Amino acid sequence: MVFRKSKGKEATVDPGKGIIQSQGVVKVYDTGSAKLTALRGIDFAVRKGEMVAVMGPSGCGKTTLLNCLSGLDDVDEGTIWLEGEDLATMGDKRRTSYRAKRMGFIFQVFNLLPVLSAVENVELPLLVDNVKPSVARQKALTALETVGLRDWAGHRPAELSGGQRQRVTIARSLVNDPAIVWADEPTGALDSKSAADIMNLLRTLNAERSLTIVLVTHDPGVGGQCHRIVRMQDGAIVGEEVPANGIAAHPDHYVAAGNGGQAVATAQA
Ligand SMILES: Nc1ncnc2c1ncn2[C@@H]1O[C@H](COP(=O)(O)OP(=O)(O)OP(=O)(O)O)[C@@H](O)[C@H]1O
Ligand SMILES: [Mg+2]
Repeated sequence: MVFRKSKGKEATVDPGKGIIQSQGVVKVYDTGSAKLTALRGIDFAVRKGEMVAVMGPSGCGKTTLLNCLSGLDDVDEGTIWLEGEDLATMGDKRRTSYRAKRMGFIFQVFNLLPVLSAVENVELPLLVDNVKPSVARQKALTALETVGLRDWAGHRPAELSGGQRQRVTIARSLVNDPAIVWADEPTGALDSKSAADIMNLLRTLNAERSLTIVLVTHDPGVGGQCHRIVRMQDGAIVGEEVPANGIAAHPDHYVAAGNGGQAVATAQA
């Protein structure tokens, strides 16, 4: 089925089939003196409730991919659909509000504000989205409860461990009850015990809420716990696999045509 034309090419991805879908996404960074193509035609699809790891060498474009697919950054070519809606047709205002209501971010760049307490950090996205302060506070406390930090609500980030801080970040990403959470190296700065705790938390949220999670990681142990690992190299998706010891393949698992065109076989028991 053809949905829209993109640069003379017919877009054949069915936006109804994945909560996140992209076709032919190209991103070029123009630094003035040089142009760098960071994404070279990304076809990607994620099913609702899938937990997908993006892996690949430093500089291959993983963060750029998350920034572009989530609409934080503009793309130069291609189409992205989120919950069936074409990002390009959203406009800035709608995009900002969509982001505030439907997505959560666990990104280094959105780190915690040091002058705010844990609960103030967590409620911030709601206040920015004009949610009533008393409601925002209640939701923030609930989110902190979810990540096991209810008793730490009044503490500032400096008084928390790295793992606790990351859990506050996760609480903040959940506070709007999002459909999609994007995580860029959520365990990157943590010791192995804290990293395991964070992964357990993300897996539980994925399983219990059908939360769709796309995470970037360098850690094969983290990737291995997801439904699917997508491999990137030099701005392109070069392969994907269902980890042998991960969560069983997502029942609706599906790969966009053009991504090698092959659906990945269901994980071995
Ligand atoms: N704002 C920017 N301006 C110019 N070039 C950029 C910018 N951001 C990223 N790049 C370049 O784009 C390429 C992809 O970068 P990206 O940050 O997406 O890589 P990555 O896979 O996330 O790497 P890492 O694992 O080190 O975080 C790199 O060559 C990088 O230098
Ligand atoms: Mg990165």
